Amino acid sequence: MNFKSSDILSIDHYERYDITTIFSLASLMEAYAQRKKKSRALEGALLGNLFFEPSTRTRVSFETAFYRLGGAVFNISDEMATSMVKGESLEDTARILGGYADVLVIRHPKEGSIKQCADASNSPVINAGEGSREHPTQALLDLYTIMKECGRNLDQIDGLSIAIVGDLKHGRTVHSLTKLLSLFKNIHFILISPDPLVMPQEIVQQLLSRGHTVEECNDLARGIGKADVIYMTRIQQERFSNPEDAERYRGCYCLNKGLYEKQVGSKSVPIMHPLPRDSRPGALEIDQDLDDHPNLAIFRQANNGVPVRMALFALVLDVADLFSGG
Ligand code: CP
Repeated sequence: MNFKSSDILSIDHYERYDITTIFSLASLMEAYAQRKKKSRALEGALLGNLFFEPSTRTRVSFETAFYRLGGAVFNISDEMATSMVKGESLEDTARILGGYADVLVIRHPKEGSIKQCADASNSPVINAGEGSREHPTQALLDLYTIMKECGRNLDQIDGLSIAIVGDLKHGRTVHSLTKLLSLFKNIHFILISPDPLVMPQEIVQQLLSRGHTVEECNDLARGIGKADVIYMTRIQQERFSNPEDAERYRGCYCLNKGLYEKQVGSKSVPIMHPLPRDSRPGALEIDQDLDDHPNLAIFRQANNGVPVRMALFALVLDVADLFSGG
């Protein structure tokens, strides 16, 4: 695809070769993300970071990525501090802010809202998480992490077996990640969730129609034993129509050192999680007794958000050529 000035709204818009383009550039960006090299490629450019839902790593890693490329950032994190409280629409807000900024990054709880913003804005819009539907840049950094942690190149993603665990009904990161992996061949998806929180059937059908295999179960111990990657998620309490219902499922899956070592044995199987993990008593999808385990990839995974998002900015704002050849 032609990335220049394009919106990044859904994994549905990408082909496999687009992922190669993004990851080749992300790999070059790592030296800049770690300040081993410096870039002013986006000097004079302005990012508008509009977060209408809480965020730690997505908002700050987008911001970090833009600063690392020499640009500047404004943040809006509180709808109550905008003129939307006076009745201004989200579309008008996006139209105005898109006139100030060169690119907008938007997180919003309402499905369809980020497309509305993209239609209204003259500047490109990047989806930073929309309701339960999609979180495309998280999926990109997740796949980038899988490649690095498993020591595979993109062609070697074919044939991967991945266990995806937790609230698969509401989790936007797993919706985008399964769509992204479906661009490859012969992926074995082991989908582990409580029965009421299974992966939406339209996504399962899409995986099957593309020739992948899908095993749905609710037994964590049984499911993770055959996986090359374990991807844990939290129960998305904020997506339940009655948040108290989420209490029934919090803590239903806890991966700890004993279970991991028993089921995985001596294999090197990365443990991933988009984060945040729920560290409140009774939850803890990944026990802190795994925090020092070499296969716990969650903090490296979060760090990978910076070079991947730098690559996306460089492509969308048409400065990628400045990095080719190092
Ligand atoms: N993974 C993720 O979206 O984290 P934040 O909610 O902290 O941005």
